[in-house]
Amino acid sequence: VTAPDLAGRHVVVSAGGTREPLDPVRFLGNRSSGKQGYALARTAAARGARVTLVSANAALPAPAGVDVVPVGTAVELREAVLAALPDADAVVMAAAVADFRPASYATGKIKKKDGQEPEPLALVRNPDILAEISADRPRPGQVVVGFAAETDDVLANGRAKLKRKGCDLLVVNEVGERKTFGAEENEAVVLGADGTETPVPRGPKEVLAETVWDLVARRLV
Ligand code: C5P
Repeated sequence: VTAPDLAGRHVVVSAGGTREPLDPVRFLGNRSSGKQGYALARTAAARGARVTLVSANAALPAPAGVDVVPVGTAVELREAVLAALPDADAVVMAAAVADFRPASYATGKIKKKDGQEPEPLALVRNPDILAEISADRPRPGQVVVGFAAETDDVLANGRAKLKRKGCDLLVVNEVGERKTFGAEENEAVVLGADGTETPVPRGPKEVLAETVWDLVARRLV
């Protein structure tokens, strides 16, 4: 039985991966399954929180008692997170948000033309939602948590990213083609802006989720 240490709290969790459309049938996407974000939402609800789960393209059943807001793109995810933020005690950005999106959207399907090379794909930056909400917290004392998937120099890159983003906690995990994305288990280190380092050994995504909420609960005022 989990202690209801998040009772009376509102937490916002983003999950899944954004899809940035090129035309009505194609998108730029990523391998995030949404499992870690859903585990965060489930465990927060079990600890008594009111949970808003902003879910980007996750093919997962809605957790019981959780308010799910489905989104597609990074821009939509930003709108949904900002809308849920004013009365939130904590925000966990577990979603894999595309850093770039196609510069233009073709309203009709892009076709190949005989004997012609394809057009180069022009991209523009998406807003960095984590950096934005870390810098500009609508409620004082809000706890902001980010995730970072790194392929090398995991801890050094994680520390630099924590500082750059301005969040309170950063969950860093090592990824590769067969690591983490879509897997049932996760292994991570949670870095704190206060210099703390909490290793989470390989285990179910629920275990990492519970550790994140332990660290968040301690920081709530
Ligand atoms: O910069 P990077 O994509 O590695 O950062 C990952 C963290 O930042 C995740 O918590 C992700 O949800 C968040 N992010 C964001 N907006 C972006 C890109 C990433 O909020 N445009």
